[in-house]
Amino acid sequence: MTSRRDFLTTASLAATGLALAPLAACSRETPPPAAPTATTPATPPTAPASLPAAGELMTRAIPATGEQVPVIGAGTSGSYEVPLDSEEFEALKETIRTFFEGGGSVFDTSPNYSNAEDVLGALLEDGGWRDQCFLATKLAADDRAAMEAQWSDSLRRLRTDRVELLQVHNLREWQTALPYARELKEQGLTKYVGLTHYVESSHDELERIMRAEKPDFIQINYSVSAPQAARSLLPAAQELGVAVLINRAFDDGKLFAQAGDKPLPDWAEEAGVTSWAQMFLKFAISHPAVTAVIPATGKAHRQADNLQAGTGALLDEDQQAELVRMFA
Ligand SMILES: NC(=O)c1ccc[n+]([C@@H]2O[C@H](COP(=O)([O-])OP(=O)(O)OC[C@H]3O[C@@H](n4cnc5c(N)ncnc54)[C@H](OP(=O)(O)O)[C@@H]3O)[C@@H](O)[C@H]2O)c1
Repeated sequence: MTSRRDFLTTASLAATGLALAPLAACSRETPPPAAPTATTPATPPTAPASLPAAGELMTRAIPATGEQVPVIGAGTSGSYEVPLDSEEFEALKETIRTFFEGGGSVFDTSPNYSNAEDVLGALLEDGGWRDQCFLATKLAADDRAAMEAQWSDSLRRLRTDRVELLQVHNLREWQTALPYARELKEQGLTKYVGLTHYVESSHDELERIMRAEKPDFIQINYSVSAPQAARSLLPAAQELGVAVLINRAFDDGKLFAQAGDKPLPDWAEEAGVTSWAQMFLKFAISHPAVTAVIPATGKAHRQADNLQAGTGALLDEDQQAELVRMFA
């Protein structure tokens, strides 16, 4: 595990503007977009996903420091909210092993997701994965005293002494939460601070606060059926050097029902895409402002499928527009 001292050293380096070394297993540069002219038929969407070699997963730099993170992360809402002594918890051991062995690193959770922090903390400790994990949680409380209690609970539940990213959940009481998160950053207890939301109707407010406050990260919804962020919020994040995590890339799973048995576009294979899950994730990471997407799954084979989206060519603008038309 990275020691507190290493962590503070990293923070000091960041303050000087020096880029940090990329993750050993994930240092490949982002490849160029696919050519839009491919006509080869796509592999059927039911094709099993194989696990990418760890070094194959694309990475992106966090603008504030230059630190590289893999473009495919994981969420914990729903899928990690399971009893600790259940079959689902046992299944998650395989899911999380698949994630880390496939080169994954970024995990997002929140004290608001019932027992997800307990589950993630237990899995990270049991598997010895904490060192490899870029761990993000949130503040979701209404006053400073409640935030302090919640933060100390989060550390206990996650079985750690710091996190990599502390975000204000859905902008809740952000005028109190963001300064508190920044105090914790000063103390070396979080490396980055951020703001989150999950609906397009809050993007304008989030953009206004992001422009005024310049957090290290934002986390927002962005998908083929909710593409609004590309109009203003994502370009603004890119302009300001704010890292972006994408939630709800599957619209909380609803996109799979919408896709049904539709065939993949005929250019899918050219982009290395063999399933709709990979297509939806690749859409998200094809925007240059996006640092990582954080799909949630409790199933190992789906985890492997999701990681696969972080390999191969990105989608060009025509391909992205075609997907938006298909799922509008
Ligand atoms: N305000 C916020 O800060 C905020 C709001 C929303 C979300 N988030 C974060 O973002 C994460 C992602 O968002 P989300 O969980 O709401 O929605 P999502 O990632 O769009 O969808 C998750 C759903 O997709 C299914 N799924 C995952 N991979 C799949 C695959 N390869 N094939 C078929 N189905 C698949 C999962 O089911 P199974 O588990 O059964 O596979 C789950 O039902 C959350 O977990 C959370 O960490 C943050």
